[in-house]
Amino acid sequence: MNLRRITHRDTDWHERFFALVETVFRTSGSNFRPWNERGGWHPGYEVFTIELDGDVLATVGRERMRFVIDGKEHDGYQLGAVATHPDRRGQGLSRRLLSRVLDDISGRPVILFGNVRVVDFYPRFGFTRIAQSSFMAPVAVEPARAAPTLDLETPEDRAWLAALCARARSPDTAFSAHDYYPTLLWHLTHKPRPVFRLDEVDAAVVASVEGERLVLHDLIAPRPFDLSRILPRLTPSRVSALEFGFAPENWWPSATASPADEPDSPFFVRNLPPLPARAFRFPDLAQT
Ligand SMILES: CC(C)(COP(=O)(O)OP(=O)(O)OC[C@H]1O[C@@H](n2cnc3c(N)ncnc32)[C@H](O)[C@@H]1OP(=O)(O)O)[C@@H](O)C(=O)NCCC(=O)NCCS
Repeated sequence: MNLRRITHRDTDWHERFFALVETVFRTSGSNFRPWNERGGWHPGYEVFTIELDGDVLATVGRERMRFVIDGKEHDGYQLGAVATHPDRRGQGLSRRLLSRVLDDISGRPVILFGNVRVVDFYPRFGFTRIAQSSFMAPVAVEPARAAPTLDLETPEDRAWLAALCARARSPDTAFSAHDYYPTLLWHLTHKPRPVFRLDEVDAAVVASVEGERLVLHDLIAPRPFDLSRILPRLTPSRVSALEFGFAPENWWPSATASPADEPDSPFFVRNLPPLPARAFRFPDLAQT
């Protein structure tokens, strides 16, 4: 069995990686292919695998991240696609791969989002589970003059969004990240949602309406602006509440934080600098 590192350039191996994640994760695994076709696999994403005779048996995906923790930038990583073929489990393949990846990362911060079946797995590798918050706020917004939305099928709109992400600040400073366009693209490919283009404030907002709730999944902007002024442009119907997919400390400081109910995606961290005492939410669309 060989250890292999698959980069964006190793296109011969991409399909074999996709096949394994599809076997293990079913539907969500099949989202890698359209994401890759849209240019999502970039130099900062690498997959470590164990292969035998050309078949991929186990994988760990590693995304380079630019974390913002208590206002300071830290280079680190997010892991995902941690998977072993069902016929090869319990043989130490994941231990071998994860140990290799974590050795390579050395003392830098690393995060990952797990699932209910692996809550006891990651602590074996030095990860600690932490709790996030949900942020909500009451509002009264009537729709007006809908903002244009991006068409991510087109290379032009994807390039526009990527360039904006590169210039944008993190949505908050407690525990967040910035410049995570490839992960954002993965989410928007997997589950398309309107991405509003707001040239007047040099921003993009990913938003959808659920009943009377306007959910702001992400806000990508290099500079602060008055969020309340653009809300009418993001909704086709009256809304009475805002929900945030990030911590809106700089955008809506009066939002109420409550413990996030996320048993399906427990949040694990390793080698993180101390987190501030205030509530945080790692941006939903930066999670892999
Ligand atoms: C979780 C998974 C990757 C483990 O792969 P594996 O190759 O069977 O794991 P290993 O054999 O290397 O086991 C490593 C260690 O973890 C333990 N372990 C394995 N699965 C575990 C689990 N689900 N919970 C707790 N411990 C687990 C093993 O007993 C072993 O312990 P040891 O080294 O102290 O003896 C595999 O079960 C899988 O692909 N699951 C489905 C996909 C998934 O949910 N991935 C996580 C996404 S976040």
